Amino acid sequence: MTDKTAGGDVRLAGISKHYGTFTAVHPLDLTIPQGSFFALLGASGCGKTTTLRMIAGLEEPSTGTVSLGDREVTDLPPYKRPVNTVFQSYALFPHLNIFENIAFGLRRRGIKSVKKQVDDMLELVQLGQFAQRKPHQLSGGQQQRVAVARALINHPQVLLLDEPLGALDLKLRRQMQLELKRIQTEVGITFVHVTHDQEEAMTMADTVAVMNGGRVEQLGAPAELYENPGTTFVANFLGTSNLIEATVEAAGAQVVVSASGTRLQLPAARCSTTPVTGGKLLVGVRPEKISLVHADEEHTIGPGRNKVSGRIAASSFIGVSTQYVVDSRVCPGLEVYAQNIERDTRLVPGAEVVLHWNPEHSFGLDAAQAIDAGIETVEEGA
Ligand SMILES: Nc1ncnc2c1ncn2[C@@H]1O[C@H](COP(=O)(O)OP(=O)(O)O)[C@@H](O)[C@H]1O
Ligand SMILES: [Mg+2]
Repeated sequence: MTDKTAGGDVRLAGISKHYGTFTAVHPLDLTIPQGSFFALLGASGCGKTTTLRMIAGLEEPSTGTVSLGDREVTDLPPYKRPVNTVFQSYALFPHLNIFENIAFGLRRRGIKSVKKQVDDMLELVQLGQFAQRKPHQLSGGQQQRVAVARALINHPQVLLLDEPLGALDLKLRRQMQLELKRIQTEVGITFVHVTHDQEEAMTMADTVAVMNGGRVEQLGAPAELYENPGTTFVANFLGTSNLIEATVEAAGAQVVVSASGTRLQLPAARCSTTPVTGGKLLVGVRPEKISLVHADEEHTIGPGRNKVSGRIAASSFIGVSTQYVVDSRVCPGLEVYAQNIERDTRLVPGAEVVLHWNPEHSFGLDAAQAIDAGIETVEEGA
């Protein structure tokens, strides 16, 4: 059994990985607090799996060290690390029943009386009634829970999960997200979960590290990342952002900018770069923060709101909300999500509209970045 007193955070210090001249992971410093649910989020090829494999000991870092608590494990082989990994292809032993699949790690270590531990694990993943079945007699989600139980029975300090839900259909994936979160809360060990699905990362994790091109671009609690993205990549990769190119007119606590002649305001505290009068700034606002009225109703908009006039280019009704695309002088293709409470039947493509939002709901980004970073990569998948 693993020595549980040796507990602690996962600490990566300057770890990087080169393949020939290609750098898959740039030197990375990262501390993953003990007991947390941590997600590494990013598009395919950004270095998530490589980072995870370096923690597991399956890949040797080109530079840097991996520590668990005060113990450096960089030179330890995988089986000597208090770490277990669950992969997307969970590869259960097809000829063994579920009980024996879960018992495998204990039996391999010569432990004879496995029943109590296996039963506890079966209960934890809520598969007690399936103990005697073979893997092919379970659904994908159930098989994945067996894979998790099989890893957890070794009492790792850290469970690494590499896109474990990637093979499941959407509905099952949602269920399993909640299930894995429950299991993590119950066992209280550190989970490091790799995914390219931003919703999955936000639903499950306490802390999300957004990776891009072998680097962690931003790290934080899901709501913090969503509300205050620091880069255009994070703003676009995590949900959807409208990014408006503007020129700074006045840079006080409240920043005043002009976007193609339209004046907008935002708090300086929500700018990830220091606004300079005369300089450029990207003003960001999330689609659900924007309200939309027919141009005839402009007089109903309260004072102190950011206002943009435009024309509806497209609208799609998706039940809980209607998603509009609005062309305007300040920016083509502004996205607006309106909850379907009272619908103005005039709000159809071609209609002249005014968009308005609370200036506090805007954020500011450095205009030197590519405005569309993180957009094309979103739908690529694993
Ligand atoms: N053994 C390898 N040899 C050469 N390049 C590799 C190797 N493993 C991974 N890479 C490259 O490193 C990059 C990061 O890979 P990976 O960590 O698997 O990304 P992710 O898991 O985020 O999709 C990719 O460009 C991939 O092609
Ligand atoms: Mg991967």
